[in-house]
Amino acid sequence: MESYKRLLMANKAWAAEKLELQADYFDRLAEGQDPEFLWIGCSDSRVPPVDITHAGPGEIFEHRNIANLVVHTDFNLLSVLQYAVEYLGVRHIILCGHYGCGGVTAAMGSARLGLLNKWLRHIKDLYRVHRSEIDLYDTFEKRRDRLVEINVLEQVQNLVETSIVQGAWHKHQRPTIHGWVFSLETGLLKDLVRVEPGAHIDPVYRYDFDDPNGKD
Ligand code: CO
Repeated sequence: MESYKRLLMANKAWAAEKLELQADYFDRLAEGQDPEFLWIGCSDSRVPPVDITHAGPGEIFEHRNIANLVVHTDFNLLSVLQYAVEYLGVRHIILCGHYGCGGVTAAMGSARLGLLNKWLRHIKDLYRVHRSEIDLYDTFEKRRDRLVEINVLEQVQNLVETSIVQGAWHKHQRPTIHGWVFSLETGLLKDLVRVEPGAHIDPVYRYDFDDPNGKD
């Protein structure tokens, strides 16, 4: 059997199982979504948010890209962020990286990867800025995994620096932003950082929400 057919067959079994457990399961699913979480993670197939957290359909609004970056000119991510924060009213944003990330590994090397290099450039910049700390580690794996953590911390900051998050903090005192790292070796999530609404924001990145003429 061709591999893709397995997915379609498994889907039939999944739908039947859901109906068996709860006859109106899909009626309720079709009514709408009210997820409490926005997950921004790596595209890596080994880090599927719903599976590793035992969540179900309807619980996690999701955006994934290579190496879980929050880039201020990425309309795709910004649209997901705006929809999740302003329309769905998520209470938590989880920015999740993972040890052994191929994107971070590539960013530390010199291979010519075309478009990927442009995307990964953001991580190269982080490596340059934090090199004195990262290079204290004695193996490539340890250096890479420290950069994975630094990348998560940086992307959490990038979220805080958006007018979308700052506007929601100002109006609704939500969402809380979490930085997590997933270990492929243990299957466990590490809770690296939590930023609550109202946390200090460097004045360079802070927007003035008292100005009635301000635009978002
Ligand atoms: Co990755």
